[in-house]
Amino acid sequence: MKVAVVGATGLVGSEILTVLAERNFPVTELIPVASERSKGKEIEFKGKKYKIVTPAEAIALRPDVALFSAGGGTSTEYAPQYAEAGITVVDNSSAWRMDPTKKLVVPEVNGQVLSAADKIIANPNCSTTQMVVVLQPLHAKYKIKRVVVSTYQSVTGTGVKAVNQLMDERAGKDGEKAYPYQIDLNVIPHIDVFQDNGYTKEEMKMIQETNKIMGDDSIRVTATTVRIPVMGGHSESVNIEFENDFDLAEVRRLLTEQEGVIVVDDPANLQYPMPKDAHGKDEVLVGRIRRDESQDKTLNLWVVADNLRKGAATNAVQIAELLLKKNLI
Ligand code: A2P
Repeated sequence: MKVAVVGATGLVGSEILTVLAERNFPVTELIPVASERSKGKEIEFKGKKYKIVTPAEAIALRPDVALFSAGGGTSTEYAPQYAEAGITVVDNSSAWRMDPTKKLVVPEVNGQVLSAADKIIANPNCSTTQMVVVLQPLHAKYKIKRVVVSTYQSVTGTGVKAVNQLMDERAGKDGEKAYPYQIDLNVIPHIDVFQDNGYTKEEMKMIQETNKIMGDDSIRVTATTVRIPVMGGHSESVNIEFENDFDLAEVRRLLTEQEGVIVVDDPANLQYPMPKDAHGKDEVLVGRIRRDESQDKTLNLWVVADNLRKGAATNAVQIAELLLKKNLI
């Protein structure tokens, strides 16, 4: 299996390399891809060194699958060229997610939608992915009417520049800014660009992508997405109103049984999910499971995941694993 990782020098790209190695994805040849700037530099994977090539050069090397994480521009330009050359693309950018001809996939939720016709497969937004893994079994059992989510998102979700901004501010140094305001000792209720309706693009992604992945436009979703000065790991407060009433013990059982979810919920012993504990984990952590006492048939949850893992790299590699299992690559 020849695997190209496009954006191999980036935060998500390097996490993809780690996850490919950890999960023993059967890579026989790695093709690390980055910009002209990085061409010729070497990257180590499983003890072997590989030379970085450009996206155009990688096409000629005929990988079986290409995992893209080099921004929307690179995906828009190159993913169709790869697909045309018969290379299956798993794309981490937002370029193709809402394209009705492209599948948006979280394997535990809608892996069954993948077919041989899919040459460009979209990986969802990090905040959406960790939420739908938890919503799925609850929707199947009680039917979700409405979701109200507020996020607490870490700076690694923005990229290297944001990590540097936080570290510079913490050290009292001047430097390049990824955000319009100080992030250290602050909270910024603004992720991605503002839309005409007053929501940000990140919030609209959570709304639209949730409906698409869960295959149900009747689920109403509203979101407030917020950047906090945490290095890695996104947290979410999720309020879910159901059509049917639920039993809390059964909710816990359903979540415990859900693939890719770990329930961490023991308030008596101060056990609840935190971003520090999610670091390096492929699973989504859920806790603070309780009834919303202000409204019938409504549940409150706290959901945490490593945004570079399940939110990005792990989900992309799991899509590739599923393609392999279904003999689609
Ligand atoms: P490079 O290191 O050569 O700039 P991050 O989001 O963490 O900053 O990472 C972005 C990734 O996307 C990097 O691997 C970067 O490579 C890659 N990249 C950015 N622009 C291009 C491009 N035009 N073609 C290929 N790769 C690109």
